[in-house]
Amino acid sequence: MFAKIYPVLKPANNRALIDNETYQNWYRESIENPERFWGEHGKRIDWSKPFTKIKNTSFEGDVSIKWFEDGETNVSYNCVDRHLATHADQVAIIWEGDDPSLSKKITYREVHEQVCRLANVMKARGVKKGDRVTVYMPMIPEAAYAMLACARIGAVHSVVFGGFSPDALGGRIVDCESTFVITADEGLRGGKPIPLKNNVDKAIDIAARGHIMVKDVIVVRRTGNPTGWAPGRDLWYHEECAKVSADCAPEPMNAEDPLFILYTSGSTGRPKGVLHTTGGYLVYASMTHQYVFDYHEGDIYWCTADVGWVTGHSYIVYGPLANGATTLMFEGVPNYPDQGRFWEVVDKHKVNIFYTAPTAIRALMGAGDDFVKRSSRSSPRLLGSVGEPINPEAWEWYYHVVGDDRCPIVDTWWQTETGGIMITPLPGATDLKAGSATRPFFGVKPELVDGEGRVLEGATDGNLCITDSWPGQMRTIHGDHERFIQTYFATYKGKYFTGDGCRRDEDGYYWITGRVDDVLNVSGHRLGTAEVESALVSHHDVSEAAVVGYPHDIKGQGIYCYVTLMAGVQGSDELRKTLVGHVRTEIGPIASPDKIQFAPGLPKTRSGKIMRRILRKIAEDDFGALGDTSTLADPAVVDDLIANRQNKK
Ligand code: PRX
Repeated sequence: MFAKIYPVLKPANNRALIDNETYQNWYRESIENPERFWGEHGKRIDWSKPFTKIKNTSFEGDVSIKWFEDGETNVSYNCVDRHLATHADQVAIIWEGDDPSLSKKITYREVHEQVCRLANVMKARGVKKGDRVTVYMPMIPEAAYAMLACARIGAVHSVVFGGFSPDALGGRIVDCESTFVITADEGLRGGKPIPLKNNVDKAIDIAARGHIMVKDVIVVRRTGNPTGWAPGRDLWYHEECAKVSADCAPEPMNAEDPLFILYTSGSTGRPKGVLHTTGGYLVYASMTHQYVFDYHEGDIYWCTADVGWVTGHSYIVYGPLANGATTLMFEGVPNYPDQGRFWEVVDKHKVNIFYTAPTAIRALMGAGDDFVKRSSRSSPRLLGSVGEPINPEAWEWYYHVVGDDRCPIVDTWWQTETGGIMITPLPGATDLKAGSATRPFFGVKPELVDGEGRVLEGATDGNLCITDSWPGQMRTIHGDHERFIQTYFATYKGKYFTGDGCRRDEDGYYWITGRVDDVLNVSGHRLGTAEVESALVSHHDVSEAAVVGYPHDIKGQGIYCYVTLMAGVQGSDELRKTLVGHVRTEIGPIASPDKIQFAPGLPKTRSGKIMRRILRKIAEDDFGALGDTSTLADPAVVDDLIANRQNKK
């Protein structure tokens, strides 16, 4: 395959920070001498006690990852206080409301005051260093204050995406044993209220059944609509913050003290609490933010993610604020009031750097160019993509129509586990190819291996591993280090296995082809097939379920469910609706099944293993290529599955 090459495009006036020669030199040094490289770049953040040790990492045996381990710092100090001397009145956060008439600008001085107040509220309620705090928030500045306030006092935040159900929230509260929750009365998206506080109330009851008693709930008043209220437990954010001092000294934290836990889906079992620590994470988030987005002082930067995902953590809050940037937080959705909203906001706030997901690009592309063309888009000089492979067609549209052929696109590959961007073009250094994440960032050593773990050289397809540690890497799974080792370091011994398939072309460029495990990527959101299956079988009419992904024009992948019903239960459209509703209640709207096929039997091997390969093919309507079915216990089930497939083209 020959991809069209877009030669290095300097983002506006040749002012790119890194050219190709610098990239090559820095990259070589970062691989040959990581101690020297990271010893130097580790200094980009302020340390209250400078580190003398730099890298102490092993992917073997017990797997231990430590960076800057004798240094002390504070993430909140770095993201706020250190900018006060020279940039106190610079805007830190531009907030754009769901309603286009609402927006506000918050300076670094104001962020400092808000973060200190909330930190003092938490301290007054007994939150201490190391305690876990759950944050379940809409996209409002208080979400960032909550994260930074935790970091300030050394509490470990667990942000749960506001689209997750009470069940999912309750499970996460129990897993990290958190008794302090920060939320809002309601969220607002596309004009519709989201009942966050009522969900928290339900989640607290669920957590109580898991023996975790939530003691305090701080509630931001966003819509003012009535919600449940438990006196003594529930407190208004604005009332509590008004009672305390606007100063709170940042807690000195060891570089390896935990900063946050973020739950993400894997191929088996319940979501894992990915744990990130303090020093290495911030160095990596801020460094990638600066160089990947070619951030210059004064730039207005907008990442459209939600703070409930890792992209929001690293590239709405921590990376940009550590760099003293102006970061835009958008409460709404891309199609409200109409499909021109993104570009209106770009013009309104003169956004220079714009970072979004392929699913949004595809949806907006489908709405037609007029929505784009009615905006000037004269401010952007760089566009970014994240979350899933971007198909060349969407890339070209983003480049030509949105970016007017003027803005380089950085297609950034990374994961919740990696903390920051790993494979990406650097504007000013990298020739672009539509659909390729291109080359590794500094310090990242990708390797492609075959199913047996043999290292593959040159242009080839393989499973993507990373062979050495980088500062932003997750350190463990909260409460389950053994699962951490098994999930990431056992498949290919001594290597971090990403779970992604990948192609390397003749120029050494990387093309991520998608997950090779049982993880779905639906609209850039990660979901385990096992999670959806267990939600389905928890319904009393369902005896068995198997879930696979299939290509979906907008979402990237859709969710296809094969469901075997209990004896005597009849499949119907009514039951399909009920099951969709059930999954939404168990996990959240992001897990809504797209297709449900009632199947009297599933294709199993004689040892009882479901052959997902066959299910995937049928879901793709590609059953001519089913391959060998002779190992099936009952080959006849396949005929029934094909006859009743839900995805006929
Ligand atoms: O499959 C890859 C895909 O998203 C997965 C990580 O999901 P999550 O931890 O939720 O983080 C998403 C945001 C960083 C990866 O294993 N992915 C992410 N970015 C890309 C991508 N696939 C292709 N190209 C990308 N740029």
